[in-house]
Amino acid sequence: MTVTESVRGGMPEPAGASAGARAVQEGILRRQSARESAARTYARALPIVPVRARGLTIEGADGRRYLDCLSGAGTLALGHNHPVVLEAIRKVLDSGAPLHVLDLATPVKDAFVTELFGTLPPGLADHARVQFCGPAGTDAVEAAFKLVRAATGRTGMLAFTGAYHGMTAGALEASGGACDVRVARLPYPRDYRCPFGVGGERGAELAARWTESVLDDPKSGVPSPAGMILEPVQGEGGVIPAPDAWMRRMRQITADRNIPLIADEVQTGVGRTGAFWAVGHSGVTPDVMVLSKAIGGSLPLAVVVYRDDLDAWEPGAHAGTFRGNQLAMAAGTATLAYVRENGLAGRAAELGARMLDQLQGLATEFACIGDVRGRGLMVGLEVVDPEASGGSVWGDGPVAGAWAESEGGGSRARASGRSAGGGGWGQASAGPDGDRGRVGTPAGLDDGGDCAHASAGPDGDRGRIGTTAGSDGGWGWASAGVGLDQAGGGPDLAAGLGSAGDGVGSAWVPDAARCPRPAAPELAAAIQRECLRRGLIVELGGRHSSVVRLLPPLTISDEQAAAVLDRLADAVAAVARGRTAPDQSHQPHPWHGDHAERAV
Ligand SMILES: Cc1ncc(COP(=O)(O)O)c(C=O)c1O
Repeated sequence: MTVTESVRGGMPEPAGASAGARAVQEGILRRQSARESAARTYARALPIVPVRARGLTIEGADGRRYLDCLSGAGTLALGHNHPVVLEAIRKVLDSGAPLHVLDLATPVKDAFVTELFGTLPPGLADHARVQFCGPAGTDAVEAAFKLVRAATGRTGMLAFTGAYHGMTAGALEASGGACDVRVARLPYPRDYRCPFGVGGERGAELAARWTESVLDDPKSGVPSPAGMILEPVQGEGGVIPAPDAWMRRMRQITADRNIPLIADEVQTGVGRTGAFWAVGHSGVTPDVMVLSKAIGGSLPLAVVVYRDDLDAWEPGAHAGTFRGNQLAMAAGTATLAYVRENGLAGRAAELGARMLDQLQGLATEFACIGDVRGRGLMVGLEVVDPEASGGSVWGDGPVAGAWAESEGGGSRARASGRSAGGGGWGQASAGPDGDRGRVGTPAGLDDGGDCAHASAGPDGDRGRIGTTAGSDGGWGWASAGVGLDQAGGGPDLAAGLGSAGDGVGSAWVPDAARCPRPAAPELAAAIQRECLRRGLIVELGGRHSSVVRLLPPLTISDEQAAAVLDRLADAVAAVARGRTAPDQSHQPHPWHGDHAERAV
């Protein structure tokens, strides 16, 4: 189905739009569909032709208005066409200054660097250098890799599962979907779908220990790297905030081994997460920061900022024609100053926490919302299949049978193993006559994660699990009258993953976060469509595109935030109740007040 067909088929006619305006919009969408690349992205799910925009609101050529919580993929810290941004741009245009200057010095650039350096974390601000890059985050990632490779004389990079760093070759290598690369992949800590099945502090601790082990084990297969790149909150990876303690561990681990730490703050920067730079939450000072999106105040701009002792690359090592965008520098200076002067990072922290709170209620109400998470105004809802049962970290999947011997009584326990992205899991259930289930998995640690599950008989015999953590990690749990005990009496998972679960104690019954239901990308897409029908633009991200993301501008008012949540709640309710067709008798979700009408 083409985009224009979907417009006709799914969207209600906008009230007040003239037939002529609608025809203009449909014509533009039809020509886009016929002429633009098959690789186009946002345009597929969002059949909108924006003609005017201000703050949170976009107006389409057909006269419809939308609350824009995509914000240029997190670019628009001040929303669309903020007056201070427009004024800064007009000032440059009216001054007669050259618009194209390569990387020459100008007063506009000088002011931008002064404002930018004033915001940097302590420890970097006084010793910083900046390299202006081609105007996209991905080019600044490339520059950061070149920089640390030149400085260290090493080539390999460390990156994390679920990462997204851009679409050029080096940035793609470091992103989660990469294969055949010079990048070693490490586990990014996460509560929901924790690859170790424990989540929380323990999950983060295990992830940190794995990182240390990879670096210190002479047979890990990972040579000493040129740098480690991480996102303080993974955005495209599905809105996953890194715990502050884990961030500090990464800082310590890299500092101890002389490995430059690169913070990719392309999406998290300029107040988005509730601190001016997201590394501020943990107090970590990285060696290198990759910055783009909001720093250009809605225009293209990307830089890499780094400690001056890394400045060992050659002149021209990262050249490019379009590295002097004067309008973007002026808009960026105005944006950075406005966020700083108006305490918008604090506002994002406070409002984001309230929005998360309210969305937690939605998760309680609707089984298709598996998890709600975020930091500041980077918010995500993971959509899951409400009817499937929880199983492995990634939900159910194709199962290749394998057999494990039970230990006692002579009965056999069935074990299944599957491979998902390199991971595999085993499941053993012992018979009702009380024999032991025993599973041993050579485990691995990657996106697939490994899961071993043993359930012993109802009369309380042991479930026993032994896993040896290997290159792609693994986890095990036993549901039995007696088994692996997370709270106490059982093995110390932080000290040794999957030591035999034969400790006597209460069984560890994994909660929904440890064995979540499978992702439901089609439900997430339906929620996105229903949001759009209600005049709300949201993004999808994360594994399987099953995370509904909100990235509103930091200037969003309380009333607008309430309208966003009303519309989102309505959309989720409609999808959950299977009422996704245009429906005039639609009953709004109880949150729905009159914010929606007033917000635009
Ligand atoms: C963390 C992060 N790094 C890098 C990039 C790439 O930026 P760009 O799309 O401007 O190349 C993105 C884009 O979303 C991002 O979120």
